[in-house]
Amino acid sequence: MQIIDGKAVAAEIKKQIAAEVAEIVNAGGKRPHLAAILVGHDGGSETYVAHKVKACAECGFESTLIRYESDVTEAELLAKIEELNQNDSIDGFIVQLPLPKHINEQKVIEAVSYKKDVDGFHPINVGRMSIGLPCFVSATPKGIVELLKFYKIETLGKSCVVLGRSNIVGKPVASLMMQKGMDATVTVCHSRTKNLKEICRNADIIIAALGSPEFVTADMVKDGAVIVDVGTTRVPSTETKSGFKLKGDVKFDEVAPKCSYITPVPGGVGPMTICSLMINTLAAGKKLYYK
Ligand code: GUN
Repeated sequence: MQIIDGKAVAAEIKKQIAAEVAEIVNAGGKRPHLAAILVGHDGGSETYVAHKVKACAECGFESTLIRYESDVTEAELLAKIEELNQNDSIDGFIVQLPLPKHINEQKVIEAVSYKKDVDGFHPINVGRMSIGLPCFVSATPKGIVELLKFYKIETLGKSCVVLGRSNIVGKPVASLMMQKGMDATVTVCHSRTKNLKEICRNADIIIAALGSPEFVTADMVKDGAVIVDVGTTRVPSTETKSGFKLKGDVKFDEVAPKCSYITPVPGGVGPMTICSLMINTLAAGKKLYYK
């Protein structure tokens, strides 16, 4: 069994990005600039955005954090998004989700110009991804694919079970895994799926993205399977300084001995998600997909 070290892979990729940014800047080019909008004080969102800002510094990017209290109006937020769409100094930006209930998340996602949508959430980017056109691919699915490629894990003809059908992870990762180049045979399971355990037991690769701590147990995993754990549920803990611990969707201790490869939580998919956002921001700075 090999543990997939997302932290190390992400560090390596960020080093390569920093070298490319130095070259761009030395040649008189513009330093890529990512902006992030954070609404409210949700603990998880605060942590993720702080990691994103830190990763920007590691990559040599400029970053701007724009904060609002949770009572910000939808109109105020949409006005800021329009301002960022028009601001040429900003190459890409994200609005950290989830948003307070009084704000229509889909409206916000669609207000971001698809040309600056480094989260890859805009329907134009989602649509282009699903038909294999160049675009911003959302960070977690992209990070998962990069990890599988980095470890040269065979996906061609393999049976891949995706647990969860969210717009952010389940649906896009299923789409990427079935595309030419990845060539997996994909089954998507969700809360209404029958025989879920049996389906999992036949899988060569399981991508668990349910947000249900320790859902995947040893009896659901066939010997030699590849396990990708996308779960990041925050649970109270006395073991950490923050008072929280991240729990994955996989019961790691009992599942790991059965696997050929497994991603840990933390240190697996999480760092790669942020790294993919950096790859997208570099692409935005280079106007790689859209002029
Ligand atoms: N909330 C959970 N994951 C993400 C993400 O990838 N991007 C944004 N903007 N919000 C999130």
